Amino acid sequence: MTITKSAVTAVPVHELIAERWSPRAFNSHAVSQDQIHALLEAARWAPSSYNLQPWRFIVWNRDDNADTFDKVYATLSSSNKAWVANVPVLIGVFADRRGVDGQENGAAAYDTGAAAFSLVLQAQALGLHAHQLGGFNRSELQREFAIPDDIVVQALIAVGYQGDEALLRDDLRAKEQAARSRRSLNEIAFTGQWGHAF
Ligand SMILES: Cc1cc2nc3c(=O)[nH]c(=O)nc-3n(C[C@H](O)[C@H](O)[C@H](O)COP(=O)(O)O)c2cc1C
Repeated sequence: MTITKSAVTAVPVHELIAERWSPRAFNSHAVSQDQIHALLEAARWAPSSYNLQPWRFIVWNRDDNADTFDKVYATLSSSNKAWVANVPVLIGVFADRRGVDGQENGAAAYDTGAAAFSLVLQAQALGLHAHQLGGFNRSELQREFAIPDDIVVQALIAVGYQGDEALLRDDLRAKEQAARSRRSLNEIAFTGQWGHAF
């Protein structure tokens, strides 16, 4: 069975946002090249400071090249390995830290996060699911794929079709079934002054 985990919101928000969540149960159904193209295109049109577009991506599609996919898989933490085992596509997210006039781009991570989330929402719009991951060995990935020094490894995004939660390991199934939670709005949003709840 596949689960839906709509956000419980105080006021309505767009269904792309409300329905998006990060499942661990994926099936191995392939993601098409056209779909991957659309994900990258969505990311490409993200806004960025000075329009520097610091985001970079590497697509690892198990169907295209199982060997390179396995090299990425080997960098994952053991708990991530357990659920990524079925995932057909991993996308590496990188930020170019070089800014204007030889300065560091202080907005590189911020902008790259925006592009990554555009990609995630486009996946949702296509009926796919995307689950971002930080639990992997960044320096191993950087070395294995000869990522230049100016490029910062940010995250991986698992992309595919949602699978049967019954097939997950017990501890992962418990997480899959747990309610999604968020801080309350008055903790994260203020009016006029710091600490004055919205
Ligand atoms: C940068 C980043 C790193 C993450 N790393 C992991 C990870 O290593 N393993 C994992 O299972 N989920 C990871 N997640 C998913 C978060 O746990 C998840 O987004 C959060 O719990 C909220 O749940 P939701 O996306 O279903 O709303 C990560 C998410 C982000 C944005």
